[in-house]
Amino acid sequence: GTAPPVSRGGRRAATYAHRGSSGMAPENTAAAFELAIAEGADYIETDVQLSADGELVIVHDVTLARTTDARLAFADHAPWNVRDFTLAELKKLDAGGWYAAEFSGQHILTFDELLDLLGGRVGLNLELKSPAVNPGLAQAVVARLRRRRDWIEPGARPRPLIVGSFDEHALRDFHTWLPDVPVSLITYDVPAGGKLTDLAGWIFSVNPDIRRLRPEDAARVIEAGMALVPWTVDSPELWRWALDLGVDGMITNYPYALKDMLHGRGPVR
Ligand code: G3P
Ligand code: CA
Repeated sequence: GTAPPVSRGGRRAATYAHRGSSGMAPENTAAAFELAIAEGADYIETDVQLSADGELVIVHDVTLARTTDARLAFADHAPWNVRDFTLAELKKLDAGGWYAAEFSGQHILTFDELLDLLGGRVGLNLELKSPAVNPGLAQAVVARLRRRRDWIEPGARPRPLIVGSFDEHALRDFHTWLPDVPVSLITYDVPAGGKLTDLAGWIFSVNPDIRRLRPEDAARVIEAGMALVPWTVDSPELWRWALDLGVDGMITNYPYALKDMLHGRGPVR
């Protein structure tokens, strides 16, 4: 098969570093990704969008205002939509100083740079972010991955790749074009019964909001045969609760602490 193994709870639950180790370093930068890898994360979760000139770039928000110095560097470009800047302009921005001075000099990465940085060291859970404001995003990611056969050929893939989105239509397109890559549906609430059964025919994992995840909904995802990987799970209480629900993994801003809870001396169950 092409899908990663389903681990189903307990100490084998996978750790997904949300935007890298974003509790300790500026999200979605090389610093946050390197830290997550060093901390033993199983996957990097990150977000991809399109620049004005059609390049794939790693940014979460649809604007640059929160996580870069764009307001200073491009003072007359409000509201600083990612989509309005070329790659050359995006590369001029500082993407780390907003978090802490020691991280200034971090830059927005392209998707290719991300793949090169990760290498075979860690899995990747890539989110097609806001396809409605990034038309052509799924197609652009497919085109790029087809030139990165090291990431999409099951035999060649050193670590798992999962592609997710809140946008079911973009995800469906992606799956039609690259059916061998497992896909994850990111959602606030687990879909209702009939809908969930349909999704199980082509979706590998469901990423529900941990704050809204009811035990009966967790059980329905597991019963339907999909992996259950909630976001964003950031406290020991929530980690233990999620494990009791039988999760296959957790998306967290604190991969080191989660790994320590899972594999260190602390009790799991
Ligand atoms: O993967 C789930 C999670 O990343 C969705 O929320 O806003 O952090 O992309 P967000
Ligand atoms: Ca995300």
